Amino acid sequence: MVKPVVKAIFPVAGLGTRFLPATKSVPKEMLPVVDKPLIQYALEEARDAGIEQFVFVTGRGKSALEDHFDHSIELEHALRERGKDAELRSILDFLPPPGALASVHQHEALGLGHAVWCAHALIGDEAFAVILADDLIMAEPGCLRQMMDVYAEVGGNVAAVEDVPREHTNRYGILDVVTDDGRLARAQGLVEKPSPDEAPSTLSIIGRYVLQPEIFRHLDRQQRGAGGEIQLTDAMAATIPDVPFHGLRFEGQRFDCGAKAGFVVANVAFALARPDLAPAVREALDSL
Ligand code: UTP
Repeated sequence: MVKPVVKAIFPVAGLGTRFLPATKSVPKEMLPVVDKPLIQYALEEARDAGIEQFVFVTGRGKSALEDHFDHSIELEHALRERGKDAELRSILDFLPPPGALASVHQHEALGLGHAVWCAHALIGDEAFAVILADDLIMAEPGCLRQMMDVYAEVGGNVAAVEDVPREHTNRYGILDVVTDDGRLARAQGLVEKPSPDEAPSTLSIIGRYVLQPEIFRHLDRQQRGAGGEIQLTDAMAATIPDVPFHGLRFEGQRFDCGAKAGFVVANVAFALARPDLAPAVREALDSL
């Protein structure tokens, strides 16, 4: 029997330096793809995977994220008065139930591992999910749902993985693969941002994880890794002797919305997937 997963951590305390100047005062996770901020896609994916408790790890100037998931009494009132029912539903339907959303502060952006560690007290001794909202995934069923199904079979730590060009291994956590059936790969080690000639494979971790609470024992040590940051990859690697690690090649398409090109392409792809927008967008693209 694997431990059930009903809590998810959303680290949103990064500086977003690759997206400046847009992210000077707006958190990266509030940038919209078509008409929804990245963080809303992430929460909806989590909810559809059975998550009931949502934990934001925030930094300074991130109140817009919390406000987005709170009632906006004046706006709701105005929409109701004007009979704008669809618009009203669009700002109410995604709100988590009372008490389901919590925030903890990461006072300094010391790395993803540190961000996850900051949520330790709210996770306790439970298995949990981590979603990085800037990795936007178009998939049906959602990527985390697919991972939960695999987790129910294999347990341990499970991450979403993708094959990347060898020259890009220095952007990702990379698996040292021991078995691989083409869909599910088991790793005997993990390396954060290896140079292409040192990378043990080209199978890279992207922003979805199902993790066991044992990870906190390693994160407690606050050890710095690649780039001087406290890396989640290092903590997952350190626990492999006790907690097996599997990477799932999910079905779907990932857009790196932490970088400008990926974000632009995501907007186009999500617009083309919308029947109400696709004809106009396709026509405009054709004329470019
Ligand atoms: P990134 O590696 O994309 O870093 O973090 P970043 O700071 O957001 O962006 P760049 O590289 O400067 O442009 C991946 C995810 O982890 C979160 C980020 O908010 C993002 O969702 N994160 C990262 C934290 O919450 N805290 C950290 O200390 C680092």
